[in-house]
Amino acid sequence: MLDRARGERDLYALIEAYFDSSFTTDNALITEAIRRMLAAGGKRLRPRFTLLAAESCGAGAEEHLRLAAFMELIHVATLIHDDVVDGAQTRRGVNATAVDFGNRVSVLAGDYLFAWIFKNVTAAYQHPIPHVLSSTLADITDGEVLQLRALADLDTTLAAYVEIATKKTASLFAASAECGVLAAGGSPFAVKALRDFGTAFGIAFQMRDDLLDLTADEATLGKPVGNDLRERKMTVPLVLALEDGDREFRSAVERFFAQDDDTPEQVAAVVAGIAAHGGLTRTEAVLAGYVERAKQSLAPLGNAPARTELAALADALL
Ligand code: IPE
Ligand code: IPE
Ligand code: MG
Ligand code: MG
Repeated sequence: MLDRARGERDLYALIEAYFDSSFTTDNALITEAIRRMLAAGGKRLRPRFTLLAAESCGAGAEEHLRLAAFMELIHVATLIHDDVVDGAQTRRGVNATAVDFGNRVSVLAGDYLFAWIFKNVTAAYQHPIPHVLSSTLADITDGEVLQLRALADLDTTLAAYVEIATKKTASLFAASAECGVLAAGGSPFAVKALRDFGTAFGIAFQMRDDLLDLTADEATLGKPVGNDLRERKMTVPLVLALEDGDREFRSAVERFFAQDDDTPEQVAAVVAGIAAHGGLTRTEAVLAGYVERAKQSLAPLGNAPARTELAALADALL
């Protein structure tokens, strides 16, 4: 889906080299759990946002690798916790951390990592970077809690969904981009441009993730498919399919959510219902609107080469 190749200036390779040479914590078990997550794969989108944002202000990517790495580590900590909360068994094509290390170590590893990141960020970066990151963590947790409270709530609106996606997912993309600009000493216009880009990108990204949960296969995705439905999550394709007002479909979803054990056939039937009621095509259309909004946010960057790369990352969501 998202292209890693970048020729001579391969940001992905730069980030990997940084992790290989520089990542360790004081706790060996936690370092092992985190290293295992990093080695399993992942697109490294958030650190790439930081590096591209810094580049868009004339800085060199190499100067901001450490900050970029913190963004990926925040992401990794949220994924470790997210898989405990969602009861997911696989992540990045391997066992979720909780499967190999247990829920207790996973919760503590995520907590430790958050604290370790903030210890280092506050020592190395000036205001407002630590503030941006701590606000982001509050938003992510807020978003995950709002999502839990909306489980199986068939009256969830698109606006409520967007609020959850903005908090749980888009906030970290926005912060990753914003902090790249801040660290590079960019203008307030650039800060706003990159933050708006990250927010719109992140909402579209979560919409694509929701679609993939219904339509991809586990081998490609590296994480469980259909898990959102089993978890009774109100993802955007379901919200939009219910908006068409078909009573029979609504009752079918209610019955599906009311039972304890779902067979793969029952999950497939709900996916078919979502498709039949326009949930997939409407999601594609709404998602495209956010991609457009994301690209428009980049206008203040003029013709900086990083702008083209950021726009390409957004287009890859289509
Ligand atoms: C997964 O993010 C979590 C969501 C916000 C949907 P990614 O799809 O970026 O996960 P990795 O880092 O590539 O594994
Ligand atoms: C995004 O939500 C997770 C975080 C913000 C941590 P999901 O629950 O949809 O992410 P996946 O599908 O497990 O990667
Ligand atoms: Mg999840
Ligand atoms: Mg998901």
